Amino acid sequence: MGKLDGKVAIVTGAGRGLGRAYALRLAGLGAKVAVTDINLKSYTEFEAEAKAMTADSTVDEINAITEAIGIEMDVRDEKAVQAMVKQVMDKWGRIDILVCNAGGGRGRPMDTKASTIETSLLHLVTEMNYYGTVYCVNAVAPVMKAQHSGKIVTVSSVAGLGPSTDGGYAHYGAAKAAILHYTRYLAQDLGPYGITANCIAPGTITTGRIVASVMPGSADANSDRTEKVAVRRLGNVEDCAKVVEFLTTDLSDYVTGQCIAIDGGLLRS
Ligand SMILES: NC(=O)c1ccc[n+]([C@@H]2O[C@H](COP(=O)([O-])OP(=O)(O)OC[C@H]3O[C@@H](n4cnc5c(N)ncnc54)[C@H](O)[C@@H]3O)[C@@H](O)[C@H]2O)c1
Repeated sequence: MGKLDGKVAIVTGAGRGLGRAYALRLAGLGAKVAVTDINLKSYTEFEAEAKAMTADSTVDEINAITEAIGIEMDVRDEKAVQAMVKQVMDKWGRIDILVCNAGGGRGRPMDTKASTIETSLLHLVTEMNYYGTVYCVNAVAPVMKAQHSGKIVTVSSVAGLGPSTDGGYAHYGAAKAAILHYTRYLAQDLGPYGITANCIAPGTITTGRIVASVMPGSADANSDRTEKVAVRRLGNVEDCAKVVEFLTTDLSDYVTGQCIAIDGGLLRS
């Protein structure tokens, strides 16, 4: 018996990295999972992600545990998001959990300082993070309202909690801050329907992308990133998946509108 037996979950951006870990965690608890991503084989872009795979895709990995469907779609495309939710409903007839994980940053900090954000990066990053989250919630909320139950987890970042010291990556930080504040409104809106909405704010988590880009020893690293982390290590995907488990099971039934930083006690200043 799993805590999520009979439940249906949607995880966006689940082709690799954190989204894959959330999808696998929910399946391990018994849920059927809609694995959605702009590219269901996005793991091929990073060596560490490809190495972590135990099957050809997250969908195949989950089919060995519970049941999964894979849906390739861009969260920036509202119609595609609605079609994805319809497909899940046609297959399973309910949606209990939504994890709005798809997103991330694009561009370089030096091109995205608060007063000189390159406009195309501003649009891209705001759309893939903030708009994508809102589109997914808009599509799923009517289903959860009719069920009178549901758990929504949105994904911010420590960059959404406070600025970088040089004002770089402002487009990403502002989009992630928007997600967090939107989630507080969402909790108020959906609480009367028995639906909770909470946000997580990861620190530096060692996904394949992070390992390849900002980790010590890699091209863009300029300092030991663990120095300012209280527990003196970077995070891993399971650190985040454990918190997603809490926020998607009955352990968090009386928790809503909250943000949990998963950063090992990081000091950003
Ligand atoms: N890794 C970290 O240190 C960290 C820290 C804070 C927040 N986050 C957030 O956690 C989430 C996942 O991070 P990650 O490190 O696993 O990233 P990642 O880049 O490894 O994975 C993101 C996944 O989302 C998919 N995706 C990207 N744009 C999409 C779109 N428009 N529509 C659908 N799918 C899309 C990608 O194909 C990929 O599979 C992101 O929202 C990111 O901002 C990560």
